[in-house]
Amino acid sequence: MADQDLRANALQVLDTLERPLRDLRISLTDHCNFRCVYCMPKAVFGTRYRFVGHDGLLTFDEIEQLVRLFVQLGVGKVRLTGGEPLLRPHIEDLIARLVAVPGIDDIALTTNGSLLTPAKAAALRNAGLRRITISLDSLCDTTYQAMNDVGFPVAKVLAAIDTAKAEGLPVKINMVVRRGLNDQDIMPMAEHFRNSGHVLRFIEYMDVGNMNGWQPDDVVPSREIIDRIGGRWPLKALEPSRYGEVASRYAYEDGAGEVGFISSVSQPFCRTCTRARLSPEGMLYTCLFGTVGKDLRSLLRGAAGDDAILALLQKVWGSREDRYSELRSLLRARGTGAKVEMFHIGG
Ligand code: GTP
Ligand code: 5AD
Ligand code: SF4
Ligand code: SF4
Repeated sequence: MADQDLRANALQVLDTLERPLRDLRISLTDHCNFRCVYCMPKAVFGTRYRFVGHDGLLTFDEIEQLVRLFVQLGVGKVRLTGGEPLLRPHIEDLIARLVAVPGIDDIALTTNGSLLTPAKAAALRNAGLRRITISLDSLCDTTYQAMNDVGFPVAKVLAAIDTAKAEGLPVKINMVVRRGLNDQDIMPMAEHFRNSGHVLRFIEYMDVGNMNGWQPDDVVPSREIIDRIGGRWPLKALEPSRYGEVASRYAYEDGAGEVGFISSVSQPFCRTCTRARLSPEGMLYTCLFGTVGKDLRSLLRGAAGDDAILALLQKVWGSREDRYSELRSLLRARGTGAKVEMFHIGG
């Protein structure tokens, strides 16, 4: 049976804004070997911070079990994130298991690239990974090291990108742009990745979590970046490649490739948000800016069977109202509860 047919027969459910569930973003660990200033500032995530312990993490068996249930509700795409997902030992074993789940037709991985050795890239590819997204915020070592805050050099990330390419993995590059920090790197990044075959995506800096001190002025709206790049190398808008795609896609008119813009602050895309998120310890969130999760781990480790878990997932998705990015100003003014951190649910 084709993947679509499998899901068409399923117990699909729409949320209160009539959005289907299509994607599952799984954070495999809350650990990271970077301390990006906008995500895990050192002052907060030092030696005393309590990360999820080994026994608290969902096992690969538990993740696979959940993915099989999510497929029945319409999920076809899984993204593995963190923290840094390559810190999770034997991640390739999990990928091989998820690739084999009928109904899953896209598995992607978002990584900082620091642990992507040729051996790891080959293992990921052999396990069935077919694409990868690598974060890189600047080509200037001073700026990049100030952003990752662990002195990690640009050259090693560029080497990781080459390694992925050599393994035959299509690569997307994620650049979070924060005004005053790395906006001077927009043009060099665009120039570097033109004609590379990789898709560079500019991401508006968001107020995820509670610690990054976000201010509206920190955001460089995508429109400004499109105008800057397009002023030098004309761009033409492309159609979305699928429903609910977060990036707006553009092509260089001279044939130098594609760039993307993720405008969750200036042009929120909650209307078509089909994403659920799973934290490393098995909490389910229906929004990146969620404040309350649903504990699936205790169900998996308790007496609940698949049917009970499925019923709960249907109930949670069916009552979903989230649209934080559309209501950002209102909710910030009102003051919501403590949000889940980005490294905890993987962006
Ligand atoms: P593709 O499948 O390649 O289109 O990937 P993706 O863009 O869905 O995933 P990626 O992990 O590369 O995320 C890129 C950026 O978009 C990150 O900064 C995410 O936090 C942001 N993003 C992804 N999903 C959402 C979402 O549902 N809401 C908001 N506000 N931002 C999101
Ligand atoms: N705003 C926007 N994107 C962010 N990311 C991490 N923190 C933020 C933020 N505050 C990005 C990472 C990674 C992706 C999953 O999310 O750089 O590329
Ligand atoms: Fe780690 Fe990514 Fe957060 Fe940076 S943005 S600290 S690489 S999880
Ligand atoms: Fe989806 Fe929440 Fe992001 Fe809106 S803010 S697109 S509802 S995850």
